[in-house]
Amino acid sequence: MLLRLIVFVVLAVVATRLCKLAYILGYHKAIYNQYPGPCRVVPNVDKGSEDITVTSDGLAFISSGVTSPRYIHNPRHSPQLVKGRIFLFDFNNPDENATEISLVGNFGRDSFYPHGISLYEDPKTGTVYFC
Ligand SMILES: *[C@@H]1O[C@H](CO)[C@@H](O)[C@H](O)[C@H]1NC(C)=O
Repeated sequence: MLLRLIVFVVLAVVATRLCKLAYILGYHKAIYNQYPGPCRVVPNVDKGSEDITVTSDGLAFISSGVTSPRYIHNPRHSPQLVKGRIFLFDFNNPDENATEISLVGNFGRDSFYPHGISLYEDPKTGTVYFC
């Protein structure tokens, strides 16, 4: 009787471990391979392009020029050489290049080094806000 109990407990522990292992390995998940399509390098979007945000109609806004004073010794990312910019890429015309958006306004252009970029599309007005 004691031997049966020990065998049962050992089997229960092993079964529990196997179930946890199967869960961790993701045997219960369905994984689909998806490919975004042909890829290409979009020229001129460089110097610290860190983020991209896309409107519902396929316009992508790319932040460029992320830098920091700690990069001052890295010629590629030195704040003296990097210009903060926002590029526009149209996924509806993926063979076209990205174009730089003209930034206007009094917002500290000389110290504008965009890192992340996000947008909000107002569903009522259709206005797109960036932050
Ligand atoms: C994109 O830019 C590259 C490099 O400046 C240029 O060779 C190419 O013709 C451009 N493509 C289009 C569609 O304008």
